[in-house]
Amino acid sequence: MATFTRSSSTAAVLALAAVVLAVLGGAVEAQQLAPNFYSRTCPNLARIVRRGMASAVQKERRMGASILRMFFHDCFVNGCDGSILLDDTSTFTGEKGAGPNANSVRGFEVIDAIKAQVEASCTATVSCADILALAARDGVNLLGGPTWSVPLGRKDSRTASQSAANDNLPGPGSSLSTLISMFGNQGLSARDMTALSGAHTIGRSQCQFFRSRIYTEPNVNASFAALRQRTCPRSGGDANLAPFDVQTPDGFDNAYYQNLLQQKGLLHSDQELFNGGSQDALVRQYSNNPALFSSDFVTAMIKMGNLLPSAGTRTEVRLNCRKVN
Ligand code: HEM
Ligand SMILES: *[C@@H]1O[C@H](CO)[C@@H](O)[C@H](O)[C@H]1NC(C)=O
Repeated sequence: MATFTRSSSTAAVLALAAVVLAVLGGAVEAQQLAPNFYSRTCPNLARIVRRGMASAVQKERRMGASILRMFFHDCFVNGCDGSILLDDTSTFTGEKGAGPNANSVRGFEVIDAIKAQVEASCTATVSCADILALAARDGVNLLGGPTWSVPLGRKDSRTASQSAANDNLPGPGSSLSTLISMFGNQGLSARDMTALSGAHTIGRSQCQFFRSRIYTEPNVNASFAALRQRTCPRSGGDANLAPFDVQTPDGFDNAYYQNLLQQKGLLHSDQELFNGGSQDALVRQYSNNPALFSSDFVTAMIKMGNLLPSAGTRTEVRLNCRKVN
C-alpha cells in the first residue's frame, strides 16, 4: 500500500532523478566546467602555467608534445582527473606502469614544477587535472598550434586504475574500427578521433611501436620506410626515436594529414585513417584546409577535456600531484 506523504514522495522523486542523472551521466559531465572557474581564487593561473610550459618547451621542444599526450592518457581513464600523475607506492598501483604509459609517457617533472609555482600563489586551490589541461593547451600553442580557452573546475582523483589504462587507451596496432569504438566509448565521434590524431603532427615515437609497419606493411611509402629503417633496425634499438612528422617535427600544423596522403603515417593506427575507409575524405579535407583542422582539433580537445569521473566519485584538490592528500 502506498503511504507516501507528499514530502517523502517528493524526496523519493528527487532521489530517483539523482540516480537517473548519475547513470545517464556516466563518465561524462558530473559538474559544469567554466573557463573563469579560478578568476577570483587564482587570477594568475593561466600566466603561471604558460610561463612553466614556455620554459620547458624552450629547453626541449618535444615537451609540448609529451604534455599533450599525458593529458590524453589522463582523460581516457575515468576522466580528466590527474589520475595519471599518481606515483605507485608499496600499497598502491597507479597508471604509470600501464602498458601504454610505462617508459613512454613523460614530462611529470614539468607538471610538478608548474604545480609548485601555482601552490606558491594559490595554495590548495587549483587541481592537478586543471593544470594538465592548461599545460596541454599551451604545449600545442607554443609549437605553433591554435589556442583556446580551457574550461576549468576539474578535481583530482584519490585513486587510479592501471587496468582501465590498459583497457581504454588504443595501441599503435589498432585498426580503424577499434579506434572508432575506443573513442566512441568515451563519447567522442570518429571525426573527433581523426582530428585528435592530428596531435601526431608533433612528438616522437619509439622504434618498437612502428617497426612492423616499416618492415612488413604494404601501404607504406617506400622511401619513407627506408628512411625510418636507418634508425629502427629489424632487431634492437627498440627505444630509438623518430619524429611523427618528418618536415616539421616540432611544428603543430596539418602536415600529419598530408603525410597520410603519401602513406607516410608512422604508426599502423595513423595510416588506418587513410587506407580506403570512412575517414579518408576527412583526412583529405584536413590536409588542404588547416583552419578546418585547427577548429575541429580545438572542439575535440574541449570535448575530451570535459570527460570527468562519474558523479559520486570522491575527489580533491591534490597538494602534490604525485600523491593523494
Ligand atoms: C588514435 C589513437 C592513438 C594511438 C594508437 C596513439 C599511440 C601513440 C604512440 C604509440 C606513441 C609513441 C609513444 C612512445 O614512443 O613512447 C604516441 C605518441 C604521441 N601521441 Fe599518440 N596515439 C593516439 C592518439 C593520440 C591523441 C588523441 C593524442 C592527443 C590529443 C596523442 C598525442 C601524442 C603525442 C603528442 C605523442 C608524442 C609524445 C612525445 O613525443 O613524447 N595521441 N601515440
Ligand atoms: C612517397 O614519397 C615520395 C618522396 O617524398 C613521394 O614523392 C611519393 O609521391 C610518395 N609516394 C606515394 C605513393 O604517395
